Amino acid sequence: MAGKPILIDCDPGQDDAVMLLLAMASPEELDILGITTVAGNVPLALTQRNARLMCELGGQPGLKVFAGCARPLVRGLITAEEVHGRTGIDGFEIYEPTMPLQPQHGVDFIIETLLAADDDAITVVPTGPLTNVAMAMVKEPKVLPKIREIVLMGGAMREGGNTSPSAEFNILVDPHAAHVVFRCGRPITVLGLDLTHQALTTPQRSRDIGGIGNKAGTVVQRMLEFYNRHDIEKYGSEGGPLHDPCTIAYLLRPDLFRGKHVNVEVEIQAELTMGATVVDFWGVTDRPRNANWLHKIDDAGFYDLLVERLARLP
Ligand code: BDR
Ligand code: CA
Repeated sequence: MAGKPILIDCDPGQDDAVMLLLAMASPEELDILGITTVAGNVPLALTQRNARLMCELGGQPGLKVFAGCARPLVRGLITAEEVHGRTGIDGFEIYEPTMPLQPQHGVDFIIETLLAADDDAITVVPTGPLTNVAMAMVKEPKVLPKIREIVLMGGAMREGGNTSPSAEFNILVDPHAAHVVFRCGRPITVLGLDLTHQALTTPQRSRDIGGIGNKAGTVVQRMLEFYNRHDIEKYGSEGGPLHDPCTIAYLLRPDLFRGKHVNVEVEIQAELTMGATVVDFWGVTDRPRNANWLHKIDDAGFYDLLVERLARLP
């Protein structure tokens, strides 16, 4: 049986890069219809190139990579070179990829792909600011019934923000886009910092990845060693949180996760708390339950899965 059809929207980023590799390593479960890129961790010119570099590393240069929006809907772009390095994937030896960038705009590709699908057919996996996904919904609302589920990395509740005191990076970069997506009416599963801060790449896990012995494992180890240094210093933790691959792991092994159906709203007015995800975890309002808020991961199971899958790559 063919895998579940997914559209990936990302801003690589080392953790987005590992997310792409994990998806590419799982063709039995996942059919990647295309990869759209957005401005986020680094500007669009770099995120689209980085996505293509990862396709080549994963041995899948035939995948289609598109460039989407170069800036958020309303606010100016915030990038995160202090975390990811100047290239977005520091730790990787950059070269000019051979596989082409698709000429179509990423938002139009999302719309075209969704419109051509049956209702409830396609899972959308955003791991960057939600600009492209929101733009597609606004430009062509007929895409909405085609979406089976949105499985996104973003937001925080108990953990607090990582980019402002109350906001997580992906939501803060484009809170207006996040507002559109969280209000879209389709099923949403959210993997925020409360969850991803449990998925730490400890030195032993990093060695396990490098120890696979293939090129993908070596490169991932190098990228994560660069990426981890920032959060280890910031949080005093044993390793860096591997945010974005948790989305794909959820699609592959939902049994590794625990969540609760709750209301989630995005703050788009107050400057101090701009981009905060307001999670009604205890049901103290009568606002509709619009999201499956994941809050617990079996982190050992997640890293076992990651190592097992990366071992399938070149
Ligand atoms: C998110 O922001 C980016 O830095 C990462 O790629 C991840 O998607 C974590 O807050
Ligand atoms: Ca990301």
